Amino acid sequence: MEMDAENPPIGAGADWTIMQGWDAYSEDDHAMWDRLFERQAAMLEGRVVPEFLQGLGILRMDRPGIPEFGALNERLRAATGWEVVAVPGLVPDRVFFDHLANRRFPAGRFIRTPAQEDYLQEPDIFHDVFGHVPLLANPVFADYMQAYGRGGLRADGMGAIAKLARLYWYTVEFGLIQTDAGLRLYGAGIVSSNAESHFALEDPSPNRIGFDLRRIMRTRYRIDDFQQSYFVIDSFEQLLAQTTQTDFAPLYADLVALPDYDTDTIAPEDRVLTRGTQAYARQKEEE
Ligand code: PHE
Ligand code: FE
Repeated sequence: MEMDAENPPIGAGADWTIMQGWDAYSEDDHAMWDRLFERQAAMLEGRVVPEFLQGLGILRMDRPGIPEFGALNERLRAATGWEVVAVPGLVPDRVFFDHLANRRFPAGRFIRTPAQEDYLQEPDIFHDVFGHVPLLANPVFADYMQAYGRGGLRADGMGAIAKLARLYWYTVEFGLIQTDAGLRLYGAGIVSSNAESHFALEDPSPNRIGFDLRRIMRTRYRIDDFQQSYFVIDSFEQLLAQTTQTDFAPLYADLVALPDYDTDTIAPEDRVLTRGTQAYARQKEEE
């Protein structure tokens, strides 16, 4: 969410938005989208929450080529009043929160190159649009994202952005959800990554722990590799209700005095679904 500069780059508006410039995408760019899309869509069948696949359908994202934001936004606005806006990359926290609070999702417009096909540091259009946008067509998740934006502006005034960011990380980016058919993925950071989709759902290494607001806000996360713990919600309704019906101000105040949990810790109060072996992380350390 952070960028070095505090001012928008030349050519960007005060809200950091730029034109998508859809005509500038090359044949190779579109082919990259199609390749990633096909691979993920096939793999996510039976692994992702059904609302995600419904979103792909509602937004007609199964058409070939990088989506054009104008056409995408017509469908998205009709579904939930959200829209996607193009930004040059990561934007300052307040700018990001303000967009979400107004039902605008800021998305990178560039697409990864073949060398970055399986791993990249900065979110590209495939992560931002394929990963995040389908669930914005779901009314409950759409409301959660807006509430998060408002909560972000509020957290900023209380010096609590770092704590609140953990909630985004462990839900919007790396969340798992329990469904009648079993455990499913919904976090954008997982669903846009082939390898982590398998890892998060099927690997015995990571912990899978029941959602708990306070617990999550105490938990560090890693940005360099697969997560060591995932948190599991029961439903989007639960996520929305628990976050909007809780005043975070006293929570932030408590957290100042409480130590952080490490990325692999199981706490005594945890509702543990999987006690991870952490074999993957341990092997990585030895390398
Ligand atoms: N209830 C939170 C607060 O009091 C706002 C919020 C809602 C934050 C939903 C995140 C998600 O600040
Ligand atoms: Fe993301």
